[in-house]
Amino acid sequence: MSEMNAEGRSRLDQLPEWTALGKHREQMAQVHLRELFERDPGRAERYTLQVGDLHLDFSKQLVTDETLRLLRDLAAATGVAELRDAMFRGEKINITEQRSVLHVALRAPASEAIMSDGENVVPGVHHVLTRMGTFSDRVRSGDWKGHTGRRIKTVVNIGIGGSDLGPAMAYEALRAYSHRDMQFRFVSNVDGADLHEAVRDLDPAETLFIVASKTFTTIETITNATSARDWLLTGLGAGQEAVAKHFVAVSTNAGKVAEFGIDTDNMFEFWDWVGGRYSYDSAIGLSLMVAIGPERFREMLAGFHLVDEHFRSAPPEENAPLLLGLLGVWYGNFWDAQAHAVLPYSHYLSKFTAYLQQLDMESDGKSVDREGRRVDWQTGPVVWGTPGTNGQHAYYQLLHQGTKLIPADFIGFARPVDDLQPGLVAQHDLLMANLFAQGQALAFGKTPEEVRAEGVAEELVPHKTFPGNRPTTTILAGELSPSVLGQLVALYEHKVFVQGAVWNIDSFDQWGVELGKVLAKRVEPALTEGAEVPGLDASTAGLVAKYRALRGR
Ligand code: F6P
Repeated sequence: MSEMNAEGRSRLDQLPEWTALGKHREQMAQVHLRELFERDPGRAERYTLQVGDLHLDFSKQLVTDETLRLLRDLAAATGVAELRDAMFRGEKINITEQRSVLHVALRAPASEAIMSDGENVVPGVHHVLTRMGTFSDRVRSGDWKGHTGRRIKTVVNIGIGGSDLGPAMAYEALRAYSHRDMQFRFVSNVDGADLHEAVRDLDPAETLFIVASKTFTTIETITNATSARDWLLTGLGAGQEAVAKHFVAVSTNAGKVAEFGIDTDNMFEFWDWVGGRYSYDSAIGLSLMVAIGPERFREMLAGFHLVDEHFRSAPPEENAPLLLGLLGVWYGNFWDAQAHAVLPYSHYLSKFTAYLQQLDMESDGKSVDREGRRVDWQTGPVVWGTPGTNGQHAYYQLLHQGTKLIPADFIGFARPVDDLQPGLVAQHDLLMANLFAQGQALAFGKTPEEVRAEGVAEELVPHKTFPGNRPTTTILAGELSPSVLGQLVALYEHKVFVQGAVWNIDSFDQWGVELGKVLAKRVEPALTEGAEVPGLDASTAGLVAKYRALRGR
């Protein structure tokens, strides 16, 4: 008899579907991608999906029709579709915080109704979008003036985690669509160097700060915002009255915003049913909207929505987020892969993987299930990667010939952005040739026979052999437009959802970040005043003493 939980669900590793996948994995141990392609000439064509503008080629995955069927069976047995539908219905699927999970409502058309606690949340979303649009247009046109009457030239977003990574990533991604006469900077680290470098060459009279914090209690953000306010008022030689023209807030916490001294008329609201790492398409994306303008922002939201609808309605065989999530389960749980690489062949996506790190690792880095019992199966992978081709000259060695299996996603675009000079446009083919070559090399490798045939000395043959059989997905789109960015992010959001649903974890809380916050607060007085910290361990006490000595305290 399998162990059941309160909802009558069996433990994951006791499901027959799990066992079947384990057996199938043993059969797959001897299979090579070379063979899979030789056996099935239609594989490349059949193992692709088209979602909106995204073309997904998953033919270089270590899967067969049987694997995919077994994975879909597991999804059915673990209730992925039911949890997805519960999310869209506004049920409180973030069980440990008793919250709805409704980032999908942030990009729903005004005509849709999505309920949370008996209320349709969509009108509120559109109300805030309209306010954001009016504000963005005013800043972009120069109608919004600073305290001394000058127009705003630089916007500095102060936030951390989801209140930084999303807007910073998306601004970088859509830079080509941004207001090129303005500058946009992002400050997150409580290390004073971050704010210092962001503002040192700025004129306070032309600078606008957006303080972005869901809770408005995050110590890094409040500390940086306070320092930024001091910098502004000192620079302007003005009093508190100047704050209104140079500080706006994005938050769910009006009380704390007012306490900080920002007029709540200058606050853009969002809601506790938006998780921080799922929030850059809410008002948290205000800096992005100022950069690219309301129209482009709405195009991005439409891209998100397109993939939401696909996730909600596409059959399992054609459902791209479902497929990507199940592939994550396949490698993590049946091939013992510990990591997942995301390798964008676009310089504009230079922050995309860092953004996905929070999305994936803060969501699925859990070790107890939804009932609070320890899980006996691997959960979220270590997500990492940097834009190609830079990584090729650094860590790809390990991907090709190392001992670890690291599934990877390649992301590339057929066309470079519009405003590149013609000479630079020509470089695009070389960039993309590298992407295609890497997927090919990882999948098919180079056999010892092929190496020998090149006349390589026998003792070097093992060193020059590439085992191949390293799984990748390639995601190709026409160009990195606002809509395509929205599609990509939604694809990964729902992939993370699928994985969490199969693993039976709460992908929407983040208790693992709390302990460090509490301990930092306790340790700080020991650094500044030499205060006794009761129960401090010997190692930390020694480090604190050494730190104080080095600071001459
Ligand atoms: O500490 C983690 C975290 O809560 C993230 O989940 C969140 O994105 C970040 O801090 C910032 O939180 P806030 O927007 O409330 O400042």
